[in-house]
Order: sequence, then C-alpha cells, then structure tokens
Amino acid sequence: MAKRSRIVGCGSYLPANVVSNKDLEARGVETSDEWIVQRTGIRSRHIAAEGELTSDLALAAARAALNHAGVDATSIDCIVLATTTPDNTFPSTATKVQAGLGLTRGFALDVQAVCAGFVYALSVADSFIRSGQATRALVIGAETFSRLLDWNDRTTCVLFGDGAGAVVLEAAEGKGDSSDRAVLSTHLHSDGRYYDLLYVDGGASSTMTTGHVRMHGQEIFRHAVTKLSEVVEEALVANGLEPSDVDWLVPHQANQRIIDGIARKLKLPSSKVVLTVDRHGNTSAASIPLALAEAVHDGRVKRGDLILMEAIGGGLTWGSALVRW
Ligand code: ACO
Repeated sequence: MAKRSRIVGCGSYLPANVVSNKDLEARGVETSDEWIVQRTGIRSRHIAAEGELTSDLALAAARAALNHAGVDATSIDCIVLATTTPDNTFPSTATKVQAGLGLTRGFALDVQAVCAGFVYALSVADSFIRSGQATRALVIGAETFSRLLDWNDRTTCVLFGDGAGAVVLEAAEGKGDSSDRAVLSTHLHSDGRYYDLLYVDGGASSTMTTGHVRMHGQEIFRHAVTKLSEVVEEALVANGLEPSDVDWLVPHQANQRIIDGIARKLKLPSSKVVLTVDRHGNTSAASIPLALAEAVHDGRVKRGDLILMEAIGGGLTWGSALVRW
C-alpha cells in the first residue's frame, strides 16, 4: 500500500465583468479582435470589480470546491494558495482565505511560481499529505492579474484575465501504481537565468511599487513549447504511461497555439484538450483549476480518467502533474 493524495472536489469563480477584445479596442487599446484571436485564441476575459480582491476570488472558489467534495471547511488542515497577485505583500493571501472559511487550526501558505503556480501548489500539498503533515488540503490558484497590467502596453494587456479555481485534496491509500485514483506524480523545474523574459518591473525590495508585467513574447513562446514538451514526456515516462493513455490534457491557458503545439506532439485530438483560454484569457495560477472545474462539472471528466496538467511561467518555472480522477 502507498500513501497518496486524491482530488475529491473542485470549484471555481470568475468575476462577473466580461471584457471582449472589441471592448479593449473601444477603450483605446491599439489592437484588434482579429490580431488577438489569430495569435492567442483569446476572445474575452473576466476582470475583477474595483474592491474585489484575490482573496475574495479564492474564497469563492474554495467554497465551491468544498461544496463539490461534500466536506466541511473545518476538516481542512492545510491551504496552499498559488498567486502572483496577493492582497498585500504580506501576510499571505492563504491566511485570509483560512480566516474567511472560519478555520483556526492547520496552516496556510502562498506559493509563488506565476503561471506554473497551480502545479507547484499541487505538488507542495501532495507532499504535505504524503509525508503526513496534512490530511485534507485546499489547493487554490487565484489571481487579479489585471492589477499588474499596463493598459498602454498592447503586447501584454490583451493576454490576461482574473479568476480562481480550487481543489480539495485528501489522504488516500493506493497500490502505488498508475491505476490509483490519486495525484500520480508532479514534476517541477525552474531556471532563473530567464528571470528577465517575463517579470514585473516593481517589487517591495526593488522599487517599493507593485510594477507592471513585461514580457519577451516570442522567447517565452519558444521556451514554452520545448520545456512543456519535455515535462509532459517526463511525467508519462515516470508512470510508465503513453500519450494515448491520457484522457484529458488540462493545460495552463496562456495561448491556444502553445496548447495546440503540445497536443500535436502528444498526438492528442482536440476533443481531449480542455480549452478555456478563449473565454478566460491567461489567468496565470488560476487557469488550470478553472479549466479542470469546467470539465468536471460539465461531465467530460469521469471517474478513473487520466488527466495531464502542464504549465510554464515567469522565472522561468514550469512543471507537470498526472492525476487519475
Ligand atoms: N494588437 C495588435 N498588434 C500587436 C499587439 C496587439 N495586442 N501586440 C503586438 N502587436 C504587434 C507588434 O507591435 C508587432 O508589430 P510590428 O511587426 O509592426 O513591430 C507585431 O504585432 C508582431 O509582434 P510579435 O511580438 O512578433 O507577435 P507574436 O507573433 O510573437 O505574438 C504573442 C505575440 C501573442 C505575445 C506571442 O509571442 C506569444 O504568444 N508568446 C507567448 C507568451 C505568452 O503566452 N505569455 C503569457 C504569459 S507566460 C505563460 O503563461 C506561458
């Protein structure tokens, strides 16, 4: 027998305000619906209302995931929240969510791996559970990424959106092979030599401001395709699985062309790819749990299905996870 962690519920939350590409044009961004759709697949994104914070989004997604799992919030002993847009520089946004759920025991922390944040957070929570430090965890990806955007920089402001997704992860016994309904494995990487390819030009220690997103798009694109191909291969090999075993690719939703490229390498038909980038844009750490919740709640993902997650973000940071539902 092997100690495992299993996802027993998921949920998500999107702010009510939907902003289309045409809306961006109308607001004076020098762009076009055609350019954005052709290069990225994005048609619209949700933008948080004034005063609506990352913790509000996270709390709504967490409540939805708890409800789906049918478990009481008080049974949660660990919260791992991936975000690049915390409510405050400190304390962690996770502690605010903890208080919002009425929890006074256990522990809560934020994880910072930008767009790879959810895969990192899942890996951290899975490790806590398998080592016995936690028994039931909330793993959340939540972002108000719009707050980091320079609306005068058309090369970045059209790409991102706000949202949150969450899963409930709990300890389970398994056989230790790839038939277990569990997180089968996670694979994390980073390479700080690429720090300046995608970053925010501010910070508490450097400028004492929050800053705006800056990106070398083409280089990020190139790294994304190679590194994501490598890390999905790594996950499959580690579990003795073939691409044809994958039921669902639930990728980070940055750009449809990157997602299509990975699916092509895996020879996965588009019917097995969960795509939300058209309606959500890039919601950074929230994108995978948002996509997962959509595919679970609309009935596509069924018990026993094999789910492959992959993501890359600033750092560079990247990773993958294989999960049997
Ligand atoms: N609307 C209209 N024109 C634009 C826009 C815009 N929003 N943005 C840039 N352009 C123009 C440029 O100014 C340039 O014009 P020029 O030729 O007159 O100089 C032209 O379009 C081409 O610009 P490129 O930067 O070469 O466009 P590219 O084809 O590389 O597409 C994109 C840009 C979509 C950002 C692409 O590089 C990409 O997808 N990169 C991956 C980055 C990504 O997804 N990042 C998300 C965060 S990281 C992550 O989550 C993986």
